[in-house]
Amino acid sequence: MAKLIDGKAIAKSIYDNINLRVRELRSKGVIPKLAVVLVGDDPASRLYVNSKEKRARENGIETEEYHLDGSVAEAQVTELIKKLNVDDTVHGILVQLPLPKHMDKQRVLSCISPDKDVDGLHAVNAGALMTGSRGFIPCTPKGILHLVKSTGIDVSGKRCTVVGRSSLVGKPAALLMLNSDATVTVCHSRTADLGSITKEADILICAAGRPRLITADMVKPGAVVIDVGQNKIDGKWCGDVDFEPVEKIAGYITPVPGGVGPMTIAMLMQNTVEAAENTIVG
Ligand code: GUN
Repeated sequence: MAKLIDGKAIAKSIYDNINLRVRELRSKGVIPKLAVVLVGDDPASRLYVNSKEKRARENGIETEEYHLDGSVAEAQVTELIKKLNVDDTVHGILVQLPLPKHMDKQRVLSCISPDKDVDGLHAVNAGALMTGSRGFIPCTPKGILHLVKSTGIDVSGKRCTVVGRSSLVGKPAALLMLNSDATVTVCHSRTADLGSITKEADILICAAGRPRLITADMVKPGAVVIDVGQNKIDGKWCGDVDFEPVEKIAGYITPVPGGVGPMTIAMLMQNTVEAAENTIVG
């Protein structure tokens, strides 16, 4: 039976550290602040933004929300971002995704100053991850690496399979694992015979957005299984992993909810505090 990786408990220990750092910042007159840009009325985005803002407040990080109508021109969003870039009281800028279809996501994200890009989605930060240099790492992949390391297994030399190739999760998660010396395979919706590849993985990261895609026969006995899926079925959360049968085979597994989700928000807070600290140090 797999050991549960308790994302909530691990996130709590990260908040303890964040609290200390926020206190230190405040003692120097720096009040960390996260600006949140929400465009449109996607209910899931609204919920995510509410959770992020609540966590920030609980940890002494101020938030400023800019909620724009879903029909606004892209230029209105980019003008707002440019104003936030030069506002010295703002340390982090988060543009909640998805953006309305008439906007070019990457063009909007590229307006965020890389120093305030606490989501790590600007091409400069994506490039830093690619080259293994310093930069903001996207929150979900950063949280995933924490969860994997919490098991105590040495990532170096392990076979890691990432299912999903999004810019938000799959691709950066693959790069992070590669930077930790894992042997990485990336699978996606066009991958032939997915199970034969996932079954080889010592570390399996599932970020496909397909409920219960990963069944027990696709998992190597003893593997570390990280489930990034957040699917709602009949009012209940379920991941990309068929939890009960896979739990019997895996060595470690994250629950949904209570696994990756709490870590994503904790990493956003960590990146925001780091952005604020950088204004003092550098
Ligand atoms: N939408 C879903 N997840 C995320 C995230 O981590 N960051 C942003 N900006 N938008 C999201």
